[in-house]
Amino acid sequence: MSHFSKTQYNSISASYDSVNDLPISRAIVVNVERLIRPHIRGARVLELACGTGFFTRHILDWGAASVVGVDVSQAMVDIAEADTAKHVEYAGKYRFMVADCSAPFSASDEGTEGGGGGGGGGFDLVFAAWLLNYAQDQATMGTMFRNIANHLNPGGRFISVLPHPEDDPMVCISQVNAQRKLGYGYGIEVRKALPEIKDGYYVHLFFDTVPPVDFGNYYLPKNVHETAARQGGMKGALTWEPVSLPDDYDEINRYMKDPVPRGYFDRWLQYPDFGILVIEK
Ligand SMILES: C[S@@+](CC[C@H](N)C(=O)[O-])C[C@H]1O[C@@H](n2cnc3c(N)ncnc32)[C@H](O)[C@@H]1O
Repeated sequence: MSHFSKTQYNSISASYDSVNDLPISRAIVVNVERLIRPHIRGARVLELACGTGFFTRHILDWGAASVVGVDVSQAMVDIAEADTAKHVEYAGKYRFMVADCSAPFSASDEGTEGGGGGGGGGFDLVFAAWLLNYAQDQATMGTMFRNIANHLNPGGRFISVLPHPEDDPMVCISQVNAQRKLGYGYGIEVRKALPEIKDGYYVHLFFDTVPPVDFGNYYLPKNVHETAARQGGMKGALTWEPVSLPDDYDEINRYMKDPVPRGYFDRWLQYPDFGILVIEK
């Protein structure tokens, strides 16, 4: 049983984009764009845990043919739909749906994205920012990966943003809490060590945003992700990609809501709070 409601985002949906406005959240976009660009042109993309559609719109801007966004929270999906519909350039290229990605589901639809013909799941790429950290154990994460593998065409890839990978996530938790004192934007409270997983934690995140936002999730060791991926049917090359930023702050500031001063990310770059996992089917 989960330690928090699966639909906890229903109550914070209206405030959630203040998290996406933080400079460290915008640093994710820089990295995702670098990794996704070579694979995105004309791609049919499935985005899991799409939230308010922040990345959905970026993925369309970067050249995807279509995106299906999936989230367990109806309120987050409602915002994603409303915000994406404001842009005429996206018309006919996206669809959102409510589903729990930790249980078997199907996002395939003949109309929008190819519908799974030819022995594949109909999608060239699956993207997920902050989904895997909602698995409380390896079996649940394995089901998430099974959904990913089932939706991907042969040769497709999964690109995922998740907490900075560690053998013991307590290292990541301590680093994030140290960075909070430097003003980077959030802290992590450990609520419980998970009895079934060595070095796995149920945690609560507190964001220093206006308005403040907080929610629960799980920090599991790096090897759990690797084993769960294989169990779920993702058998191809698996890489933990390095996180980086351009040296040029004019370039960095193109991604920021408000410009940050030169050197802003220096301390953060010593320990970026997120990691990126890429796995081929
Ligand atoms: C931290 S938010 C990130 C949203 C979005 N990816 C972004 O980066 O802006 C995590 C999202 O995961 C969704 N989520 C959590 N557990 C999920 C599950 N089992 N299936 C689908 N979505 C889930 C939440 O509802 C929430 O919208």
